[in-house]
Amino acid sequence: MGLKKLLFLISIFYITNAPAQNVAVKKPVLVGERIVQFIPEGFDKSKTPSLILKEEPRSKGTMPKDWSLIPGFVVNGNKASAYLKLSGDISLYGGGEVTGPLLRNGKLIKLWNTDTGAYGVEEGKRLYQSHPWVMGVRRDGTAFGIIFDTSWKSELYTNSDEIRLNTEGALFRVFIIDRESPQAVLKGLAELTGTIEMPPLWSLGYHQCRFSYGTEKRVLEIADTFRAKSIPCDVIWMDIDYMDGYRVFTFHPQNFPNPSALNNKLHNKGFRAVYMIDPGVKVDKNYSVYQSGSEKDIWVKKPDGTEYHGKVWPGDCAFPDFTSPKARKWWSGLYQDFLAKGIDGVWNDMNEPAINDSELPQEQRLGTMPYETMHKGGGNLPAGPHLLYHNAYGRLMVEASRDGIMAANPDKRPFLLTRANLLGGQRYAATWTGDNMASWEHLKLSVPMSITLGLSGQPFSGPDIGGFLNNTSGDLWANWLGFGVFMPFVRGHACAGTNDKEPWAFGEAIENTSRIALERRYRLIPYIYTLFQNAATTGIPVMAPVFFSNPKDLTLRNEEQAFLLGENLLVIPAFAKNPSLPSGIWEDLSLVGGDLQDKYQAKLKVRGGSIIPTGKIIQNTTENSFDPLTLVVCPDEQGNAVGKLYTDAGDGWGFKKGDYNLMTFSAKKDGNTISITMSAKDGNGKAENKIEKINAEVLLKGKIYKGTGTLKEGVQVHIQ
Ligand code: NOJ
Repeated sequence: MGLKKLLFLISIFYITNAPAQNVAVKKPVLVGERIVQFIPEGFDKSKTPSLILKEEPRSKGTMPKDWSLIPGFVVNGNKASAYLKLSGDISLYGGGEVTGPLLRNGKLIKLWNTDTGAYGVEEGKRLYQSHPWVMGVRRDGTAFGIIFDTSWKSELYTNSDEIRLNTEGALFRVFIIDRESPQAVLKGLAELTGTIEMPPLWSLGYHQCRFSYGTEKRVLEIADTFRAKSIPCDVIWMDIDYMDGYRVFTFHPQNFPNPSALNNKLHNKGFRAVYMIDPGVKVDKNYSVYQSGSEKDIWVKKPDGTEYHGKVWPGDCAFPDFTSPKARKWWSGLYQDFLAKGIDGVWNDMNEPAINDSELPQEQRLGTMPYETMHKGGGNLPAGPHLLYHNAYGRLMVEASRDGIMAANPDKRPFLLTRANLLGGQRYAATWTGDNMASWEHLKLSVPMSITLGLSGQPFSGPDIGGFLNNTSGDLWANWLGFGVFMPFVRGHACAGTNDKEPWAFGEAIENTSRIALERRYRLIPYIYTLFQNAATTGIPVMAPVFFSNPKDLTLRNEEQAFLLGENLLVIPAFAKNPSLPSGIWEDLSLVGGDLQDKYQAKLKVRGGSIIPTGKIIQNTTENSFDPLTLVVCPDEQGNAVGKLYTDAGDGWGFKKGDYNLMTFSAKKDGNTISITMSAKDGNGKAENKIEKINAEVLLKGKIYKGTGTLKEGVQVHIQ
């Protein structure tokens, strides 16, 4: 053995066996209201770039004098960790897309985006996204959150005495938010990582999907059945089989010969069309996308500089290196012609990226690119290995996709759904919880999973309702839809080879139940749209844990069957057994005839002191929901209530120039009369003109008192 080799081996031995060393922290900097940035000595942005923050935070002074949350940093060889010691009784939440319970004390999350279908509820399974973020809620209801600003492969431990992130990469920054409530902490998270952009109204309706509706004819049959049966629906999805041999940005010549005409027909029936685009590009010298990508030299490379190839649906694929601005620009450009065919939304799937390496011996399979595969970087991003960029691959892909969608249709709001993402990636795309199963376990799990995404910056999520893998029974479908319609993203989906899972596929009784469930969703769209506007401006989740109603009430801290939709509506799924419910006034709400008698529908309860704006039953969001507007009023003990309604054109960017209405409605009791009026108005939109007549329904001690009026004059309701 030569001397050089010996020295090399000694240094490797030293690095891998070196004792862990504590790293000093530079002077902490205040970067927002009670948000402090901690940078370890030796931190190097060119080794750990930030892909999480929306922008580089600016100093707003020094750490507050009373600040108690100080993280520690450690390096072990070339692997950095950070931790935060905890004292007292603290409930931990967050960590993004996770299996297992809502309350995260004593858990481990492996942050390495992975295509893990049928994930189940066992702890520690890797899923499709990485959210190095934890929120702690103290006994007194005050809360804090910690962002580990890194995308390196990591493990996140949420022990009751310590939150810790062990990475396989270089040192990174930590941000800590310490505020008066969990809601205020989530606002802080949004201040650093951004919020969702206001989605198009249609994306809040019901979405029908299947892997795959295989022909144009089948797609139209599905669309027509919704309308013939008067079951509300806004969107039909095209999964991979619309493509020509799974080549992205192409259409199957026999089965989808005329996508423009198909999309036109769907539009005429009041539907939108969402199409899937995966990152893997088939290695095929006669395929224009592969040709142009190769000419532009945008593919991920092996360490020897040759193109990396991995197998996905079309066989061998090359993968755009989304770390490179040139590759992102090229990818964005592909959407121009594609969307010109009348495509309304895009679904980016398999972007962990998931790669089929089942031909390798079990112990060598990674299900993705090898760790040392090279990414070129560019702009603010350094060149780096896949170990650094893997967890950001989906997030960089959706940044490029979103740019492309915006450039193709600048006057429309993009709708993009992604499977893989990174903390902060809500800025680019909505998400769903991947390949779940048609089982009771997954039905129940879908509630804490979506809540946890909301507590991790991503408010726009939901499961495959009915379960993706395996056949679904009518009973399971109806139970799932009965509460799934109150989740932020509402889509039914089914894997190839499983039974039909449309609302009418399980016989007449379940069809009626499905119609009632979806009609309830559509009646609530004015309220839900208002919640999305709130999420888009503040970062407050649309779907929230019950303990948000009173963070001081310790009995609510691990309630994960029931959930809140906004602050004012409590949703108790039919499966819920002895849920812990908040104290105070909560009145039952019926939205559609027969809903209270239907065993599958979730129970809805309205918070005392609130007003919930509801619309009429519509078949899709192109119809005017405000004809009439019905205000559901649930007075507090004094007989008063307040609530908001946000309206705008439902698409486009006019709202950014003031073309919106944010109305506050107030109810006041005087003797036996409750008067409801619009007490404040923000924005100067025209949408309000759609509202003339107003109905009010006052829910009081189990009774309903009704009145009608107009937006201008208000409504008076007499109660006895
Ligand atoms: C995997 C996705 O998770 C699933 O939803 C989709 O149907 C299949 N890929 C096929 O595209």
